[in-house]
Amino acid sequence: MSSLEQLVKSAQEDFQAATDSAALENAKAKYLGKTGQITAQMKELGELSPDERRSRGAVINQAKEQIESLLTARRDALANAQLQERLNAEAIDVTLPGRGRSSGGLHPVMRSWQRIEEIFGSIGFDVADGPEIENDWTTFTALNSPENHPARSMQDTFYVDAPDSTGKPLLLRTHTSPMQVRYARMNKPPIKVIAPGRTYRVDSDATHSPMFHQVEGLWIDTDISFADLKGVYLNFIQAFFETDDLQVRFRPSYFPFTEPSAEIDIAFGHGPLKGRWLEVSGAGQVHPSVLRNMGLDPEEFIGFAFGSGIERLTMLRYGINDLRLFYEGDLRFLKQFN
Ligand code: FA5
Ligand code: MG
Repeated sequence: MSSLEQLVKSAQEDFQAATDSAALENAKAKYLGKTGQITAQMKELGELSPDERRSRGAVINQAKEQIESLLTARRDALANAQLQERLNAEAIDVTLPGRGRSSGGLHPVMRSWQRIEEIFGSIGFDVADGPEIENDWTTFTALNSPENHPARSMQDTFYVDAPDSTGKPLLLRTHTSPMQVRYARMNKPPIKVIAPGRTYRVDSDATHSPMFHQVEGLWIDTDISFADLKGVYLNFIQAFFETDDLQVRFRPSYFPFTEPSAEIDIAFGHGPLKGRWLEVSGAGQVHPSVLRNMGLDPEEFIGFAFGSGIERLTMLRYGINDLRLFYEGDLRFLKQFN
């Protein structure tokens, strides 16, 4: 083997031994660089006669081209190997489960809200919506609770740091009853409406939350009686709890905006709460002063109203004993209703 053939062979071995491009470039310098062995042989050509120079030059050039093509082949091989490595590292396992969003569900209180609207809608009640930030007149005064009236302290209120048009502070509504006044002032009797929504009080324990939901009901006509309210409410409760096996009782109570007033209690004939009377709502005949504040003549019209706690109804429906569970956002609890 000529010395040039040996050079080509040794270049091939060195290139093969290089496992990354930096090592390969080093190996290249050994043969083709400024001080490389092929370069050195080229330099020696100057000492030869023109004829020898031509033939020797051709042989060296051939060796040089061989080394260059070995280098290119090795470069390609290394680049391929690197690409393959990257592809392997970035490979996607298509058999893994996806990370997509799971479908959400309705909050149990919202489920009750929907049911309430469906049930009352089916017997001809309109559904109304009103502001959660209320003024003093609609929340209290129009509902027969004048300033300094002790009944105002039945509902401890969150005030908003802004006055209404009369200079009194606005407040978060403590009940949905202001909707009685708002709706009746904008609609002519006969009126049959429910107004579900959020309400706020300075309250917090296992059965009271600072934010909770009520549904107001109002029925105004010329010839209705307590018996109509009782019939409608019993029908609602039976539809809501999906059972006829319960009793409804109207227990005398006091609200400034109704006279007479009652608390509505229910008792199931079966289940874990069997036989226990549970309060679900306030109710009563709309007070004549409130009818006047609605712009109606109490000699001509008679009205009945109720206001029920939606959390309370939901707790009874699902057998939940602590209202705070609704607002802790624990998915293990919330998922059970979907
Ligand atoms: C009222 O709010 C009256 N506006 C109801 C009414 C309407 C009477 C129309 C007559 C005519 P009361 O304060 O009792 O009444 O509240 C009604 C219901 O709201 C209660 O029975 C209870 O179920 C619910 N409730 C009251 N406070 C809270 C609270 N902090 N958290 C959860 N539910 C509550
Ligand atoms: Mg009450």
